[in-house]
Amino acid sequence: MRLTILGGGGFRVPLVHGALLGDRAEGRVTQVVLHDLDADRLSAVARVLAEQAADVPDAPEVTVTTDLDEALRGADFVFSAIRVGGLEGRAADERVALDLGVLGQETVGAGGIAYGLRTVPVADDIARRVARLAPDAWVINFTNPAGLVTEAMSRHLGDRVIGICDSPVGLGRRIARVLGADPREAFIDYVGLNHLGWVRGLRVAGRDELPRLLADPALLGSFEEGKLFGTEWLRSLGAIPNEYLHYYYFNRETVRAYQQADRTRGAFLRDQQAGFYDEMKRPDAAALSAWDRTRAEREATYMAENRDAAGAGERDADDLSGGYEKVALALMRAIARDERTTLILNVRNRVTLAALDSEAVIEVPCLVDANGAHPVAVDPLPGHATGLVCAVKAVEREVLSAAASGSRTTAVKAFALHPLVDSVNVARALVDGYTAVHPGLGYLT
Ligand code: G6P
Ligand code: MN
Repeated sequence: MRLTILGGGGFRVPLVHGALLGDRAEGRVTQVVLHDLDADRLSAVARVLAEQAADVPDAPEVTVTTDLDEALRGADFVFSAIRVGGLEGRAADERVALDLGVLGQETVGAGGIAYGLRTVPVADDIARRVARLAPDAWVINFTNPAGLVTEAMSRHLGDRVIGICDSPVGLGRRIARVLGADPREAFIDYVGLNHLGWVRGLRVAGRDELPRLLADPALLGSFEEGKLFGTEWLRSLGAIPNEYLHYYYFNRETVRAYQQADRTRGAFLRDQQAGFYDEMKRPDAAALSAWDRTRAEREATYMAENRDAAGAGERDADDLSGGYEKVALALMRAIARDERTTLILNVRNRVTLAALDSEAVIEVPCLVDANGAHPVAVDPLPGHATGLVCAVKAVEREVLSAAASGSRTTAVKAFALHPLVDSVNVARALVDGYTAVHPGLGYLT
């Protein structure tokens, strides 16, 4: 079986490769094709993979290419993990927004819109090529903003593109852990959009254990979301929000924390990864250990500003590994080998959330088998959550429409309608600011 990874020179590729190396089952991936625009990054990552595979018998064969069509031909699965504009672009997304007093995070608010506007045209092109060159391939989209990018690709690929994120899995695992339940045996009642969802229940053997957690302030305050949101707010909501909702519920505090930080997350990762890729240019560098050191530092500092703003302290050691590669592998195995399972994924709504149309990509538990991912019926969201989901989906639709038409006016509308952008004037200034720094937004006229 052949797996093509787009963004194959990306920093998280060794995580996926590590998971593949642990898969000994019949029908596993035997060929990995890494595609990237940057040949130096490809060779850096290929060195890490070679060290990872050194003692593993029958490791998948790894090839690299900078030719997209060649990478796609013959693929059974395509992982799309590209970053249009690189980490420099991410840092610029943050800076422009923060200077105007709004959030610049890569998936939430103004930053997510800017990143989406840059990425959608590229994702469209990839999806069209997959449809032409590898029509039977399944595409697993990791590229942020993952829900929006998956929806863009679904317009060409239908249900053959599935978006993934490890945030809901990590959240479900943390809740199960504090409740003393086995995450593999728990059904996580979670729904929303990517980075905008809520856990409303956690069922073990048919019984909802979440009320027990909400009733116990000590237990509730003992894990990441309890510390981030505060137990009182979680009890008011009667649900556990995805960690990215911290940017909504505590917007003022998070914007301030990001403005005061020495470096934004994007700037930190840009510098940190530049160090890693530079080191890989030295022929004698120990690739795997350099990568692992860099990875550990990245994980330890994940959402550090949010935790600072909330006084939440250090990350729990058990939370350090997100499990991004495990979701990807579980999804691929379920499809390729008909190993039926339930995973929280980004797929088209169909009739799951009544407030959205059937084509809207949502994040929801899905039954996965050889026929793909099928969303499970869930209870409706409460009004406040439906309101946010509908508002953000409307913004995503404006982004898709601006990317298709190239209309600057539509781009302004996308920013202005976002709940975290507080003025149409700010939206206009954001479009001016972003188009001035991003060559990839030159299509907006
Ligand atoms: C979480 C999010 C991902 C994000 C990742 C890394 O897993 O769900 O969408 O890409 O963290 O975040 P970072 O800030 O380290 O790039
Ligand atoms: Mn994510």
